[in-house]
Amino acid sequence: MTSTEQRPVRELDDLSWWTHPVEERDAFFARLRAEDPRPFVPARHEPGSPRHDGFWALTRYEDVKEVSRREEDFCSGEGTQIFDQPPRLREYRGSIIDMDNPEHARLRKIVNRGFTPRSLEVLREDVARTTRALIASVAEQGEIDFTTAVAAPLPLRIVNNMLGIPAEHEQYIFEQTNIIMGASDPEYVPDQSPRAVAAAVEAAGEGLAALLSELAEARIAEPRDDLITKLVAARGEEVLTPAEMARFFILLVGAGNETTRNAISHGLLALTRFPDQRELWRSDPATYTGPAVEEMVRWASPVLHFRRTVTNDGVRLGEQEFNQGDKVVLWYRSANQDEDVFPDATRFDIRRRPNAHLGFGAPGPHFCLGANLARLELSVVFPMLLELLPDIEAVGEPQLLRSNLLHGIKHLQARFTPTTVAAS
Ligand code: HEM
Repeated sequence: MTSTEQRPVRELDDLSWWTHPVEERDAFFARLRAEDPRPFVPARHEPGSPRHDGFWALTRYEDVKEVSRREEDFCSGEGTQIFDQPPRLREYRGSIIDMDNPEHARLRKIVNRGFTPRSLEVLREDVARTTRALIASVAEQGEIDFTTAVAAPLPLRIVNNMLGIPAEHEQYIFEQTNIIMGASDPEYVPDQSPRAVAAAVEAAGEGLAALLSELAEARIAEPRDDLITKLVAARGEEVLTPAEMARFFILLVGAGNETTRNAISHGLLALTRFPDQRELWRSDPATYTGPAVEEMVRWASPVLHFRRTVTNDGVRLGEQEFNQGDKVVLWYRSANQDEDVFPDATRFDIRRRPNAHLGFGAPGPHFCLGANLARLELSVVFPMLLELLPDIEAVGEPQLLRSNLLHGIKHLQARFTPTTVAAS
């Protein structure tokens, strides 16, 4: 199926366009939602840029929601990213997010063990302790790169603690996941030829997989009280193989840490740009923390898109009919700014109700496994920041990741009155 009557949309798969100001990008999506809500983006096979075979871009809230729910018509097992992934890379990236039932349901049931309300309640204390220690480590400086000093290490440390990964591996994991999730940015992979990018991602994936397989084997030999043990060595329950554990870990540190890092950095930006909302939150954290966290995820939309593939000829979405193998891309950020659902959508408004945003994906089999963990982290970080560094604010513009997958912030300067904070 082709769309001959409309001008081909060439922006969405053009990584250089994704370095344009966010306001320009948001305005472009607003125009699509109003005038051409499901445009076709033709194949890109140019040397020197990531390749794909063309896709339908879904920009409206209701479309993103419906496709996420209809897994039998729009599957994930053919890949969830726009650009073609060489099979060897899918080996490292292909955990549950790139699976369909019955395999998806089987593995998701196992990994759910780490994300029950009880497991998360136990984590609350660790999140508070880790956040306080991070704030204490920078409190005397007065000016910091907020992303690298606070927003990035927090989720990484929490997931590592949860899994039982020794602290000595933290820096290595940080660097390798930056390569995997930020591969389209020259800061992380200086040679941007597709071959070099694939090689860098493969090497990073191999390194992380080797580390996790080793830890999994060690826990099988000698179980401990951590999530790796629960996932690979639980007695009397189905478990992951060390290779499945390694792939799941790569998904966790990518889908989990990078996204939460970005939500935290965008969150500080939101509080800086909307001081009235910051004051409102500070005035009554008990009332506003829950809604403010949801609004942060909507406003930030840390994941820009995921993809689905049409499973059969004749699958319909509204009036539109698709063929088997057609690719559709769910633009979460655009859905989260759909004015039919979110009035004054670019405004950060912690009183927004209802706020059924799609930042964690839409209800469906792949809805974010870590949504409650991310909510927990955000609901601890911001009240603590506002209490311990009350005048903290972002300074200047954030340095954005060159990516159309993650709404990433690589660096964000922040300033505050220097002070002393006890680490515990
Ligand atoms: C603000 C932070 C986060 C955002 C914005 C976010 C966003 C998303 C989105 C959009 C999806 C895809 C849903 C779909 O395809 O329908 C997803 C899936 C997933 N997320 Fe998150 N996420 C966040 C935090 C986390 C955390 C903290 C973890 C775990 C530590 C996590 C683990 C996962 C996993 C494992 C999946 C795949 C679920 C599946 O396929 O069954 N995420 N997330």
